[in-house]
Amino acid sequence: MAKSPQLEEIARFATALRGELATRTGNDDFPFQPPILKFISGKKISRDAFQIVKPKSKSNFDSRLVGRVAIVTGAAGAIGYGICKGLLERGCYVAITDLPGEKFEKFVVEFQKLDSERVIGIPMDVTDTKSVASAFAKISTTWGGVDIVVLNAGIATTGALSELDLATFQKLERVNVEGTLLVLAEAGRHFARQKIGGDVILISTKNVFAPGAGFGAYSATKAAAHQLARIASLEFAPLGVRVNMVAPDAVFSGGSHKSGLWAEVGPGRMKARGLDEKGLEEFYRNRNLLKMKVTAEHVANAVLFFATRQTPTTGACIPVDGGLPDATPR
Ligand SMILES: NC(=O)c1ccc[n+]([C@@H]2O[C@H](COP(=O)([O-])OP(=O)(O)OC[C@H]3O[C@@H](n4cnc5c(N)ncnc54)[C@H](O)[C@@H]3O)[C@@H](O)[C@H]2O)c1
Repeated sequence: MAKSPQLEEIARFATALRGELATRTGNDDFPFQPPILKFISGKKISRDAFQIVKPKSKSNFDSRLVGRVAIVTGAAGAIGYGICKGLLERGCYVAITDLPGEKFEKFVVEFQKLDSERVIGIPMDVTDTKSVASAFAKISTTWGGVDIVVLNAGIATTGALSELDLATFQKLERVNVEGTLLVLAEAGRHFARQKIGGDVILISTKNVFAPGAGFGAYSATKAAAHQLARIASLEFAPLGVRVNMVAPDAVFSGGSHKSGLWAEVGPGRMKARGLDEKGLEEFYRNRNLLKMKVTAEHVANAVLFFATRQTPTTGACIPVDGGLPDATPR
């Protein structure tokens, strides 16, 4: 998607303006829409002068999240479903982003049926600098800024190191590492302009702490992504931006959306263990201490924990894996 200089300029203005408004009004939690820009005419800025767009209150809204603007990458999959739903239900404005295509379009329609005002779908390829920048610009021109960035896009493959071809490794490296880098970089630039802090949450994996044989490309590239997020926590802290990670294990679906990642690696795992689909899910449930099935909703809950800032925490990781002693962060 090409980024027009005009759109970029408007987006920069919108985010800078949002920071300015937050400072002058002491209110940093409102999104606004482009029409309000016409009110800017050198008058003394008062909060009431602006059309503040607050979603209509719902019972499960969380006051810490109502009106905050979130972007979720690789959203149109299993875990993305849980995260988008969690954010939307708590009152956020949610920008659903993923590779363009029928799967993405259907996913966006499903969410727009839940709330047409607080959901937008923006095709975005995390490996393409321009695509990432124009998605942030589009959100800023629509809702005035971005507060929460969830880096969820990721792909996997299996294969022993001795059999892994370089092109396969590089394919994972592009999405899992370069994609993470590009989104973190754009988020950093955006938050520096916006000046009201923010939250970044990376969906890492238990493989970072407990890699599996045959998962070299996945484990290594996700570990690099995890490390980039830790670096971002150091670099973004002065901006009031927190960067944290969530490390799930074995999530097979979210709503009616099956994990694309498991569609890729599942058949090999089933064959290796002589299991069918149900048997494989049981295997992963039984290998954790709590004997619990990990769901996309559980992952979303960890994301929401960080986004609601319940503890003074950055650079940290919550395992969502039912308890795996060998994957305990150390
Ligand atoms: N499912 C699990 O068991 C599990 C466990 C640990 C971590 N994770 C992590 O959670 C995240 C989501 O996993 P999932 O199981 O929901 O997978 P999924 O395949 O269902 O969803 C991932 C999404 O990323 C998108 N994507 C791929 N390449 C992209 C690109 N270049 N730009 C933008 N989007 C792109 C895909 O289209 C897909 O919709 C991944 O980062 C994965 O590493 C998953």
